[in-house]
Amino acid sequence: MTDRQNTAALMRAPRARLTVERMPMPEPAADEVIVRVRAVAVNPVDWVIQGTGAVTYRWLPAPAVLGSDVAGEVIAVGSQVTRFHVGDRVVGLATGTDKGRDSRHEGAFQHYTALLERLTAPIPDAISDAQAAVLPLGVSTAACALFQPQHLGLAVHDPVEPRTARGVVVIWGGSTSVGMNAIQLARAAGYDVVGTASPRNADLVCSLGADVVADHGSSTAVDDLVAGIGGRPVLGAVAFGETSAAPCIEVLRRTGGSVLVMASTPVSLADLAGRRRLFPAMVPVFTRLGLRMVALMLRARRAGIRAGFVWGTSLRDDGLGDRVWGGLLPQWLADGTVRPSPEPLVTGHGLEAMQDALDRQRAGVSAQKVVVTL
Ligand SMILES: NC(=O)c1ccc[n+]([C@@H]2O[C@H](COP(=O)([O-])OP(=O)(O)OC[C@H]3O[C@@H](n4cnc5c(N)ncnc54)[C@H](OP(=O)(O)O)[C@@H]3O)[C@@H](O)[C@H]2O)c1
Repeated sequence: MTDRQNTAALMRAPRARLTVERMPMPEPAADEVIVRVRAVAVNPVDWVIQGTGAVTYRWLPAPAVLGSDVAGEVIAVGSQVTRFHVGDRVVGLATGTDKGRDSRHEGAFQHYTALLERLTAPIPDAISDAQAAVLPLGVSTAACALFQPQHLGLAVHDPVEPRTARGVVVIWGGSTSVGMNAIQLARAAGYDVVGTASPRNADLVCSLGADVVADHGSSTAVDDLVAGIGGRPVLGAVAFGETSAAPCIEVLRRTGGSVLVMASTPVSLADLAGRRRLFPAMVPVFTRLGLRMVALMLRARRAGIRAGFVWGTSLRDDGLGDRVWGGLLPQWLADGTVRPSPEPLVTGHGLEAMQDALDRQRAGVSAQKVVVTL
């Protein structure tokens, strides 16, 4: 690897814009592969960290390499790696911005990065790098919400088992990037799914496996979902989007469901992340956020609902990562049960395009994932 040079889109200091700089080449630990990155996707958390990390990601040292979603080619493998070889096309979840990890070793927005073998899957030939790059954080967060015992704790059923009425999973925000993955994973695991989307995305969300799609912008969305569920047992709800937890509690209350998984803060951090200074604007934002969270938890508890916040990279440490990335996802991608969703929106090529890509994601997308090819 000595003839190769690494370059990253680096966040030099909290709130600094990304700049392209030379970086050391990462060396693989025993359970890691080193990947020449060919495509990365942008998640809301990337601009949240850039804009508010001094408060929300206090553990993350700068300079930092942001980014979770990597597709590329293996150029080196650690001594204990068994599933991959040099030259394999792979997609994987980089978790370098988590507490105790090293973002410069395991961050997506650079030419070469490390990935844990247990959070990496082969890319089938029919899927391009840009298509594959949309998967990692979306699939991982959806899997944590659906399969971790502290959340919905769903079992994965063999597809040949008869599809009896196992129950319904509610995905509020079914047209978000993570929501589209949650619908597909819940269906693949053998459950009925109902969800929400804007009318323009309703057919798309149906095509992923939801049998009822309500308009999350409509005042009748809760009624429409409850009617669509039609008395089937409800296993729980997953809420994507700042305003989604409260209507999910209402759906669960009216259908007898008892588990809510929240993926989003109940107040958007988009405006705060875009400001030149965090202080004093952060004070009312975080006060509102704290108060809304307490109010939601109380409302859920009063309705007999267990509510929790999902952390999409937590499958790294509990065995679920290996189960999903080492088994279920490769199988479901290969046989077409899961198709990479949403569609990639390639906004640029090269690390110089990364900052614009973060700004583009923060401005808002609809059933698309911002991707940069490298
Ligand atoms: N906790 C974690 O570990 C974790 C991990 C990943 C993401 N997240 C969070 O999960 C959320 C989704 O992330 P993402 O990357 O999937 O977002 P995204 O794709 O950027 O979300 C955009 C989508 O939001 C939908 N939307 C608009 N209004 C909505 C509403 N009232 N209710 C529900 N959805 C609405 C839009 O669908 P339409 O155009 O159809 O309206 C649009 O497609 C974000 O809040 C993100 O921060 C959390």
